[in-house]
Amino acid sequence: MPMEETLDPKDWESMRSLGHRMLDDMLSYLENIRSKPSASPPREAIEKICVPLTEEGEGEEKVYDVFQQSILPYTLAHTRPRFWGLVVGTGSPYGMLAEMLRAGMNGAQEVALVEASVHKQVVDWIREMLGFPGESGGVLVSGGSEANFTALAVARNAKAEVDMKAKGVQGLSRKMVLYCSDEAHHCLERSVELLGLGNEALRWIPTDDDCKIRLDALENAIQNDRKQNHYPFCIIGCAGTVNSGAFDDLTALANLAKKENMWFHVDGAFGAWTKMSKTHRRLADGMERADSLAVDLHKWMSMPYGIGCTLVKDRLAHYSTFVYGHEAKYLRSAFDQLKDRVVDPHNLALPLSRNFSSLKAYMLLRAYGKKKYRHLIQQNIDQTIYLAELIRKEPEMELTAPVASNIVCFRFKPKRLTEPELERLNKMIFNDLNRTSFWMISDTTIKGRYTLRACNVNHRSQKPDFDFLVNEVKKTGKKAVSKMNP
Ligand SMILES: Cc1ncc(COP(=O)(O)O)c(C=O)c1O
Repeated sequence: MPMEETLDPKDWESMRSLGHRMLDDMLSYLENIRSKPSASPPREAIEKICVPLTEEGEGEEKVYDVFQQSILPYTLAHTRPRFWGLVVGTGSPYGMLAEMLRAGMNGAQEVALVEASVHKQVVDWIREMLGFPGESGGVLVSGGSEANFTALAVARNAKAEVDMKAKGVQGLSRKMVLYCSDEAHHCLERSVELLGLGNEALRWIPTDDDCKIRLDALENAIQNDRKQNHYPFCIIGCAGTVNSGAFDDLTALANLAKKENMWFHVDGAFGAWTKMSKTHRRLADGMERADSLAVDLHKWMSMPYGIGCTLVKDRLAHYSTFVYGHEAKYLRSAFDQLKDRVVDPHNLALPLSRNFSSLKAYMLLRAYGKKKYRHLIQQNIDQTIYLAELIRKEPEMELTAPVASNIVCFRFKPKRLTEPELERLNKMIFNDLNRTSFWMISDTTIKGRYTLRACNVNHRSQKPDFDFLVNEVKKTGKKAVSKMNP
């Protein structure tokens, strides 16, 4: 009789030895990450990646070689101690191991009692660390975008003047509108589009010199919309904008939302964790008054990628948004095992099959405890202040936005250059740095001005790394100036 096919190895010993090699290689990679060069991928690497799929398969060992030679060395390498581009977390060795355990058990559901309890415990810990009220619930999701989307779906359904589940936006008799600052993250726009509200419903309110939402402009916009018989239903506050890390006045926004009977949502993708800093926690004051909060765990909490959290104060509103209108019968007995169905993550977010990502969060939080995470958040803030000081001391550099917590926006600014020349020069610096230190920093535009930007959510950075950054920018800047004026 022919053998029936399976994906299990015929030879477990070779799989075991390949597995041990992979584990050893990755641990060594992380152990020596400081000395790893970072480079953008050469064409040959991409050519080795983009190949036709073979009929017979190339074998585990060979594909692992492709990973080692063509993929790993040329990825974003945000595990490096000198990576401050975008807002990218650095992961950790224990996080990697926890991910392996999750994949090994092929964690797919958080419906069974043990998985559901792990999930609930992680949400409770996050709530507690962020000082969000005890009555609120939440769900783990894939990251900040989904966390915001999930929260805004609840806000829309809770505030809609029709039964949103049954009628959808087609049942609305007037336009639902919502507000955020012009520094808020673009994922909010995508959420609003996907929620069927249309991106015109999202009002981008101008910010002040500190990149905080202007309350006078916000109030005017709300009144204006009311006059036109639109329905203002939600204010979104920023706890850490992606450009400069600015915090809106969340207490004022909470007051306004209350006065106007609107939902108050906070996007705290990374900035919410400032709440754990001794020196900067006040920035997040008022966050605890939000109806919902979106936060990431894969950024400033350094967890392996693919994990964020939505916290919602009104647990029933959250549950009602996602629970199946006609609950699938085959799921009922599994759901009934849970005493409190309102904490069941399947009823609080889009996916039915979930990937048990709570496991890594559970293991990491429990292994390291609150003190370690508080320390790491504070360390990044202190380093950011250090970097800002270094820049202030440089006669040919300047800060381009106020430094709120963990982001420094700056530029190289030799004397006697015009604004367009400064933009050209700093773009050259950015491109040059990118060639040698891949994505060490990123660039952005704040209030129409091009700027370099370092975002510090890196638990591997040390103070001398910031001296290195300033020296590199200076060196590259001087070279770029000489290219501009040969
Ligand atoms: C403030 C803010 N909100 C939302 C997001 C989106 O989060 P994610 O990339 O985890 O989807 C980001 C990403 O950088 C962010 O900085």
